[in-house]
Amino acid sequence: MIKVGQVFEQHEILLTGGNGFLGKVVLGLLLDRFPGLKHLHVLLRPQRDLSAQERFAREILDSPALAPVIEKRGRNAVREKITVWSGDIGKPLCGLESESLEQLTGRVGLILNCAGKVDFFPPVDDSFRSNVDGINYVAEVAKRIRAKMLHVSTCYVCGEGDGLIEETDPILGFYPRRMNPQEGTFSHTTEIQTCRKLVRQVYESVGSNGDAPGGARSREITERLSDLGRKRAERWGWVNTYTYAKSLGEQVLAAQENLDWAIVRPAIIESALRFPFPGWIEGGRTSAPLVLMALGGLKDWPVKKDAPLEVVPVDLVASAILAVGALLLEGNHRPVYQLGTADVNPLWMEPLVKLLDRESHQQRKRRGKVRFLTPEEARARRIRLQNRIARTRALLGRMQGALEALGLDGEKTFSRWSSALRVRELQAAFREQTLDQYLPFVLHNRYIFESENIRMAYSMISADERALIPWDPEKINWTDYWTHNQIPGIEKWVQPDVVKDWSFKI
Ligand SMILES: NC(=O)c1ccc[n+]([C@@H]2O[C@H](COP(=O)([O-])OP(=O)(O)OC[C@H]3O[C@@H](n4cnc5c(N)ncnc54)[C@H](OP(=O)(O)O)[C@@H]3O)[C@@H](O)[C@H]2O)c1
Repeated sequence: MIKVGQVFEQHEILLTGGNGFLGKVVLGLLLDRFPGLKHLHVLLRPQRDLSAQERFAREILDSPALAPVIEKRGRNAVREKITVWSGDIGKPLCGLESESLEQLTGRVGLILNCAGKVDFFPPVDDSFRSNVDGINYVAEVAKRIRAKMLHVSTCYVCGEGDGLIEETDPILGFYPRRMNPQEGTFSHTTEIQTCRKLVRQVYESVGSNGDAPGGARSREITERLSDLGRKRAERWGWVNTYTYAKSLGEQVLAAQENLDWAIVRPAIIESALRFPFPGWIEGGRTSAPLVLMALGGLKDWPVKKDAPLEVVPVDLVASAILAVGALLLEGNHRPVYQLGTADVNPLWMEPLVKLLDRESHQQRKRRGKVRFLTPEEARARRIRLQNRIARTRALLGRMQGALEALGLDGEKTFSRWSSALRVRELQAAFREQTLDQYLPFVLHNRYIFESENIRMAYSMISADERALIPWDPEKINWTDYWTHNQIPGIEKWVQPDVVKDWSFKI
């Protein structure tokens, strides 16, 4: 049996991504549940007008995720447990000075790498910076300071898939269209080099050497680099640039020598079940846009009725990360821990969509019937929508012309309708783009992530400590969770103004 609290009393921990959605809950939970923790180091990148220290105070200490621990122990006590380091995982040695590295050497036993770029289709070099190079540089620091490394990846590195996704597949050489693990046609180093060469060609084509990726870039270059990521991902069977880069990042880690590491792969991370309090969620990169569209009255759902949505509450993920971190420190770990829920407690799409629809009825008093669309129906619906908008625009144009032929001010008469139509057009385009991002997860593929290793991990932890950092997806009542945590949580913590007025009449 492993005593997690005792392990954390003996080792200092360095956390990256501590100001992100997941990172804040990891940080809050660690300090809340293990007050005897030896010390925590947090690496944050400065922004143009904010230092790492300022970001720490503003984005972490003032976050609701830390409210429980600050209330219990006081802001000063929490502050004293933490040292903030200014750094960037996309830079060699994470941008840390050699003096800083010396100070960390022999003190930090474990790096928890929660940093990552979660956008699905960013310019590919931006994704590589945090999700591929970043892994290399964090590993470099881990070796230099003699620490172990826990890296947060994603279950969706599997790419296209249907059915049970095992967590024991070898990492190196993996690509989604691989027929079997013996097939040796994929080398992550070759792919990384090829992709970099293509990125360079894009920059060179406009006379730039691309020295400052992420800096000011023309719209055309941004689009070409996003498109490049999409194409490289599609070529091998990944569903977006994010999962392509995350898989390459895993392979970079798996190829390291002289480093103890473990990979934790959560499914889609959603609102808190219990910690910091039920329903807390942050950012729009979760299912929030889908939920807000549902509440806005979406009736046609391009989803597989009989597929599970692999969702996991953020505090369960944070708990599992701490449990695996302790096992890794004790040398009792496995390489990969998938954190899904469907292999013990699936949340099926059909009842979920109906629940969201009921909620939308209650809020908006709208009537109508939900329809589940196949990929073909979804395509046909989109074409109908585009045609209807085009026909309405043509009709407005003809009516305006007719008025003007009579010497009347057609433009003035129809300007309000034209701008209303333009708004509808933009809303529809935005909705289609949003839906597109989710199609691989809800329509084109069907995933159940094997999550046996995390259950094994918890069998090595005492009942008392399991209660402190629970991993118990089998106990979640999904109807209760969506009704009392997820939907109100998204409405309270995520809802952007722009989404409030979404209408789905056209
Ligand atoms: N959200 C999900 O549903 C989900 C599911 C599975 C796995 N994951 C993984 O979980 C991790 C955390 O995701 P999240 O949802 O918490 O995302 P998030 O809220 O966007 O947080 C990402 C964090 O990474 C930091 N970061 C990115 N690039 C960095 C760099 N070059 N140097 C230093 N810090 C950097 C960001 O800092 P800045 O504020 O400076 O940008 C931010 O703190 C990611 O690795 C993601 O792939 C997320």
